[in-house]
Amino acid sequence: MKSRVLYAVVIIGLVLGLAACQCGGKSAGGKACAPNCTYADMTLCYPQLGAESDWRTANTASFKETAEELGFNLVFSDAQQKQENQISAMRACIQQKVDVIALPPVVEDGFEQVLTEAKNAGIPVIIVDRSVSADPSLYASHIGSDMVLEGERAAEEFNKLMPDGGAVLELSGTTGSGAAVGRAKGFRNKLNSNITILDSQTGNFTRAEAKPVMEAFLKKYEAGVDFQGIFIHNDDMGIGAIESLKAAGVQPGDLVIVSVDGTRGGFQAMVDGWFQADVECNPLLGPQVAEMALKLMNGQSVDREVLTNETVYYPDNAAELLPTRKY
Ligand code: AHR
Repeated sequence: MKSRVLYAVVIIGLVLGLAACQCGGKSAGGKACAPNCTYADMTLCYPQLGAESDWRTANTASFKETAEELGFNLVFSDAQQKQENQISAMRACIQQKVDVIALPPVVEDGFEQVLTEAKNAGIPVIIVDRSVSADPSLYASHIGSDMVLEGERAAEEFNKLMPDGGAVLELSGTTGSGAAVGRAKGFRNKLNSNITILDSQTGNFTRAEAKPVMEAFLKKYEAGVDFQGIFIHNDDMGIGAIESLKAAGVQPGDLVIVSVDGTRGGFQAMVDGWFQADVECNPLLGPQVAEMALKLMNGQSVDREVLTNETVYYPDNAAELLPTRKY
């Protein structure tokens, strides 16, 4: 009788232990090295969403450099901004039995199925950079920027720079992406009621796509008359838009332009007088994600949400800071 009670206690203990672990069955017992795994034991899958911007290039470099420095195996792929490619890359990683998947989702919706597959395979997933709409029980954590706060910070710059009100255009990021949805929401949360959003179109976070969108805006609306400012969701689109503005004879300083990222290109646009502020979005997430992935492999608990501490950059010291920028 005594031994049956002991047996039941051990079984219950094991079940509770497995349920409490954020990492699923694999790290709790499947990985032979746990709880003492090192980076040398780790295979991390990073199905990158694309190469659409300088921000993204820096984000990719951060993961590749971190893998090199810490000595883990990185399974990297580029989904070319297509969700179906990202999902296929995740499935390949699940089949390969990687230890952890770090997913920068191109859009928020539509990842439930593949996240469930990862969970069932005992592979923990860290959502990186943008957010997903899937139930948080399907992933271990989210590490990235507060996109709503970035939009709010941009709005506060317009409130300061356009105290008498006016109209602005919005050049938005990829439709349905956590970055575009969050920035648009935050912008509307904080924009003064005397500033109206005249029009909003996507430039898909790329220079190439932003240029014709700005051209079309300039055919439809007169700069300085119909609108006085432009909120641009990233620096690459800002650089594309500047080309169209220049071609239309708009001069630096004619419009209030606020962008997001803080890349070297964005800093140069501030030095040249085009951007009046650049809201930081930090892409250098490799070290943080690697550290968390190792914790998950070792069955340690992690924070459900880790938001990057960011700031706003201004033209007054942009020339001084430009040579120090890492991306
Ligand atoms: O998700 C982060 C955003 O994606 C960056 O602002 C942008 O440059 C990138 O393409």
